[in-house]
Amino acid sequence: MRHFLEVDDLDAAELRRVLELAADNDPPAVLAGRGVALVFEKPSNRTRNSMEMAVFALGGHPVYIWPEELGLDTRESVEDVTHTLAGYHACVAARVFDHAVLERMAALDVVPVVNLLSDAGHPMQALADVLTLADEFGDLAGRIVAFVGDGNNVFRSLALAVGLLGAELRFAGPADYRLSDSDRDRLAAVGTLISEHDRALDAVDGADAVYTDVWTSMGQEAEVDRRNLAFEAFRVDEALMDAAAPHAVFLHCLPAHRGQEVTGEVMDGPASRVWPQAANRMHAARGLLAWLLGEGVES
Ligand code: CP
Ligand code: NVA
Repeated sequence: MRHFLEVDDLDAAELRRVLELAADNDPPAVLAGRGVALVFEKPSNRTRNSMEMAVFALGGHPVYIWPEELGLDTRESVEDVTHTLAGYHACVAARVFDHAVLERMAALDVVPVVNLLSDAGHPMQALADVLTLADEFGDLAGRIVAFVGDGNNVFRSLALAVGLLGAELRFAGPADYRLSDSDRDRLAAVGTLISEHDRALDAVDGADAVYTDVWTSMGQEAEVDRRNLAFEAFRVDEALMDAAAPHAVFLHCLPAHRGQEVTGEVMDGPASRVWPQAANRMHAARGLLAWLLGEGVES
């Protein structure tokens, strides 16, 4: 049984296949007559809606579940919840605070488990990100993606996906908000070429794409003042975009805070691809589910 807790649960060939399936607007009805449980411990716009519509497109029925209904580890254990949901659903997908909850679900091997964002990663977002970059540039080999800001869940998954497809990644952010050594080892294992920079300008210089995310992720709200100070020099503005390649695009997983991590001029400007990127969440989700619950079952 295959799970999708992080991008490197796929090898490069499987990732390319998922992206091919994402481009298929007439997908196989691999979910005909079957359900997908969508468990959300945190709010969501894109992830919930893209997953629900992807499940629908594959002939299935999504069931959105707020954690208070389940009482994970209070009403019953994560394991008992997962066993039960496996009786009704072809897949359990969850957005959780603690990545270990997803690992406990997947360890049972009773149903494929998909990460809809955890403190560790956001692999469904990364699929949409590389789909958007591929729409723009075709083959990503040799392209340069600059990520400016927090070395967070979105960054980790993006770095794995970009690396698997042969692009170079440059990171710029404050020293205290960078990757851990184990993150670096994981990126090295998939062959991601990554450099880390103290100044945003050095990372963005000549880049094909500039990516940022919020400075304070869901669950980190108590740190907001400290983070706003730490990230002040890492805002994506027009001057920074001018340092990128002339054809460079701007990406953001959203939700965005104009005036914080990105200016309104960049977010709403000609280089911005944030709306096709958000729309690609649905295509990427359809591709991943078609693979995981179709071809992935055999692999
Ligand atoms: N990018 C993203 O995951 O958005 P939501 O939090 O709205 O799902
Ligand atoms: N890093 C952000 C991404 C939101 C989609 C968070 O975890 O809140």
